[in-house]
Amino acid sequence: MARNGRVTVVGAGFYGSTTAQRLAEYDVLDEVVLTDIVEGKPEGLALDINQSRPIEGFETRVIGQTTGQNGEGYEAIAGSDVVVITAGLPRKPGMSRMDLIETNAKIVRSVAENVARHAPEAVVIVVSNPLDEMTALAQLATGFPKQRVLGQAGMLDTARFSHFVAETLAVPIASVQTLTLGSHGDTMVPVPSRCTVDGKPLTDLLPAEKVEELVVRTRNGGAEVVALLKTGSAYYAPSAAAARMARAVIEDSGTVLPVCAWVDGQFGISGVYLGVEASIGKEGVRAVEETDLTDPELAALKEAAEAVRAKQADVQTL
Ligand SMILES: NC(=O)c1ccc[n+]([C@@H]2O[C@H](COP(=O)([O-])OP(=O)(O)OC[C@H]3O[C@@H](n4cnc5c(N)ncnc54)[C@H](O)[C@@H]3O)[C@@H](O)[C@H]2O)c1
Repeated sequence: MARNGRVTVVGAGFYGSTTAQRLAEYDVLDEVVLTDIVEGKPEGLALDINQSRPIEGFETRVIGQTTGQNGEGYEAIAGSDVVVITAGLPRKPGMSRMDLIETNAKIVRSVAENVARHAPEAVVIVVSNPLDEMTALAQLATGFPKQRVLGQAGMLDTARFSHFVAETLAVPIASVQTLTLGSHGDTMVPVPSRCTVDGKPLTDLLPAEKVEELVVRTRNGGAEVVALLKTGSAYYAPSAAAARMARAVIEDSGTVLPVCAWVDGQFGISGVYLGVEASIGKEGVRAVEETDLTDPELAALKEAAEAVRAKQADVQTL
């Protein structure tokens, strides 16, 4: 089997290490590079993942690399087709994603500058929180074309929504289609008109109050996991989403996924990173898809755009 491509995952915490593992287990890449500022952590995790190769049966090699405060070690990411930025603090119980902005902005800015220096052709996928703002900041700090920088949130929110629907109706997950757009937070926009089970509208299968209950649970999906874990945040479902996005880039697949992408004119919204459906290929976002929305859904998307626009303007000074 032909393997090609190199994906770097910056940050070897829970999110980063599980993303690296998933990417390696796809067995479609030449190499996965995993970096962190904690000395030995990425090397140790890479060694551990590589030692699972005979059992899981994949050839992709994982390379661990510690990086220094002044960018030492970043040479290892050269030639990366994709860089996934997971560096940054996760939430603790009771914290909102916005509580992380100052600390994570410093981390994401310095990572992005090093990525621009050492992997200037890469597509950048941001996952650090607060997601919409960190995606905007990574684009500013890299200076990359806007379609080459995108964020992961919508795939995760959509997956959480689908899981809750499948559990509520006791149906196979494969029969469920849902969609969430907007921001990764309070202004997440569920799209009931695109939610179906075996092709039947979700709104025909569940009363409106029950659908609303599942929407609220989805919106708080991250906080629910944080509250149970007490330390750290979710990473299995989040890493599944980021790894799929990286794979769509590597395979130049054109797959349409809900992602945080630069919106410029679509839906009558301009100049903001926002959760929308987009086709993903080797250039990053090929095109933002103008999903058919009902009037209330479109109004909610516009409201989300205005809420994140104000916060994204602030990241320039962080
Ligand atoms: N977008 C989403 O849907 C989503 C979902 C879950 C978590 N997250 C976010 O992802 C981020 C990572 O979460 P986690 O659970 O892996 O946290 P974690 O604490 O397990 O790992 C973070 C890692 O980043 C490293 N790091 C810090 N500064 C760095 C730098 N300058 N360069 C390289 N590495 C650096 C740390 O040493 C640590 O290993 C958090 O900001 C979290 O909020 C986003």
